Parts: sequence; C-alpha cells; structure tokens
Amino acid sequence: MKIRIWRITRLCTLSTLPALAFSVLIAMSAHQAQAQEAGDHQYTSEAVEAGSQVYTQQCALCHGPQGALVDGINLSIGQFRTVQSDTDLRQVIGEGAGEGRMPAFSLRAEELNGVIAFIRAGFDPEGEAVKIGDPIRGKTLFEGEGQCADCHRVRGVGPRTAPDLSNIGAIRTPASLQRNILDPATALLPINRPVRLVTRNEETIVGRRLNEDTYTVQIIDSQERLRSLKKTDLVSYEISDEPSKQPTTMSSDEVADVIGYLLTLRGLE
Ligand code: HEC
Ligand code: HEC
Repeated sequence: MKIRIWRITRLCTLSTLPALAFSVLIAMSAHQAQAQEAGDHQYTSEAVEAGSQVYTQQCALCHGPQGALVDGINLSIGQFRTVQSDTDLRQVIGEGAGEGRMPAFSLRAEELNGVIAFIRAGFDPEGEAVKIGDPIRGKTLFEGEGQCADCHRVRGVGPRTAPDLSNIGAIRTPASLQRNILDPATALLPINRPVRLVTRNEETIVGRRLNEDTYTVQIIDSQERLRSLKKTDLVSYEISDEPSKQPTTMSSDEVADVIGYLLTLRGLE
C-alpha cells in the first residue's frame, strides 16, 4: 500500500509538475493576449456609468431602483418577458411595451447604448457588461462555424467528451460564458481538466475528470465511456492545466450571438 502511494506521488511530482509549470506559463501569455481582445465584446465602463443615470431618470419610476417592480420582470438579473438579445432591448425601449403601459422612448444613441450596458452589467455601475446577441444566429454558429457542437452535447445531441451545455444558461453568467469562449485557459474549471491515467495493467486512459475523492477518480474517456478507477490501481495520474480547446476565432458579434444562445439553454424545456 505504502509503495503504491509512493509511486503515484513520485510519478505525479516528476511528470506532472514541470508540465504544470510550463502550461501555466502558456496560459498566462495566452490570457494577456486575449484580455486585450475582450474589449469590443463588452460595453465600456463609461457606457455602464452613463446608463445608470439614464435609468434613474427615465426608467426607475416604473421599474424601481432595483429593476424588479414590474410584475414578472427583473431587469437587474436579465429576467424579461420577450426580450433576449440587446437588439430586442433596443427595440422595446424604442417602441414601448405592454400596449402603452411602457411608453416609447427616443433616447440619443449614447443614452440607449448606456442604459442597455447598465442592464447587462446587472445594475452594478462598476460591473462588467457583456454584449448579448441573437440566440437564433447563435445556435447556427454553435452548430456550424463555431464548431462548439463538435465537442459539446446539448439536449441529447452531440458527444459526451466535453461538458453537456443543456443547462449552462442557468448556471453561468454571461461574463463567465464569454471567458470560456475567448480565453479557455483561464476559464478552465479544476474538475473539468484533461487527465491521462496509466493503470497497473498498462492501459493508458485519456479523458476528462468528472469527479475525484481520496481513493477513486471518475472520468469520461475518449470513447465517451464513464470510468471509475481506484487510485491504487494506477501507476500514473497526470492532470493537465491546458484546456482541450483553443480560443475562438469568431468575431465579437458572433461571440455575442453564441452567448445569446447559451443563455437560452436552461434545462429541458
Ligand atoms: C411608465 C412606466 C414605465 C417606464 C417609464 C419604463 N417602463 Fe419598461 N416596462 C413597463 C411595463 C408595464 C412593462 C411590461 C410590459 C408588458 O406587459 O409586456 C415594461 C417592460 C419592460 C421590459 C421587458 C420587455 C419584454 O417584453 O421583455 C424592458 C426590457 C423594459 N421595460 C425596459 C425599460 C427601460 C430600459 C426603461 C427606461 C428607458 C423603461 N423600461 C421605462 C413600464 C415602464
Ligand atoms: C475541442 C473541443 C471543444 C470545442 C471545439 C469547444 N469546447 Fe467548450 N469545452 C470543452 C471542454 C473539454 C470543456 C471543459 C474544460 C473547461 O472547463 O474548460 C469546455 C468547457 C466549456 C464551457 C464551460 C462549461 C462549464 O461547466 O462552465 C462552455 C460554456 C463552453 N465550453 C462553450 C463552448 C462554446 C460556445 C464553444 C464554441 C465556440 C466551445 N465550447 C467549443 C471542449 C470544447
């Protein structure tokens, strides 16, 4: 027993640590490059701040300071009746809603942009406001050009090697979805990391870690099989720090569309 543990520990130290240090370096440089590009996927902080004033003057009377006074709508957490994308928001503000219960506003372009930014920042004047595009275009991109469906499963369709995204809109914020698309290295969740295991029977298993406790590790292997392995049966266990995918090459509008689509994925409806 002692020897086995020692072997695992030794193998981890020798083979994983240099690899970890190395991939952290890669992750950092990739992160810096991406951080600069994230700019036009987002509303500027000036827009968010300007929008907070427009909101107070024009909208708070009915929607309330926290955005939750109109029945069934909570603007600060993105709960609407019909609105999904930023284009929809623009249209509702410009045309009014509820058969005249909400009047049409003719705001200047900066005011309109600002109030949408403020809503998307979750009513936090210092918040990060991610642009949200059209879910229908987003779905097409997800399944086509964006190549997301090559790895991800949605509502029973697609492979199991990457996390199932059927409920992702309910469990992640727009900012975290955006980070995952633009900069997978920094968005990588510890539990999702790619692993490479070698068993005492000399089988090498490559896959994605789903769960782990002191004695066992559960993974999805590259053939999409769920496997549970005892750590005492392993001679080596390597966890990679590198994500299994590259940052997307889609434009900022396309990324906004894909985020719009992901936000509609809230369980099986
Ligand atoms: C006079 C009251 C009033 C004002 C002022 C007002 N609203 Fe509304 N708003 C409403 C009502 C009522 C509804 C619900 C309409 C319905 O029944 O669908 C609504 C709905 C909305 C919706 C959800 C629409 C949908 O179908 O999902 C958004 C977004 C919204 N308002 C944003 C704003 C913004 C931004 C402002 C300020 C520029 C604003 N509202 C000003 C009364 C108001
Ligand atoms: C080469 C396979 C691959 C491709 C292509 C890919 N992903 Fe992923 N994705 C993964 C893997 C593996 C993970 C889990 C590792 C991680 O946490 O980053 C993941 C994680 C995610 C997560 C986080 C899941 C969570 O639980 O938080 C989101 C969101 C996501 N991907 C969306 C996308 C979108 C959108 C695209 C297309 C633009 C895409 N992915 C393309 C493999 C892929």
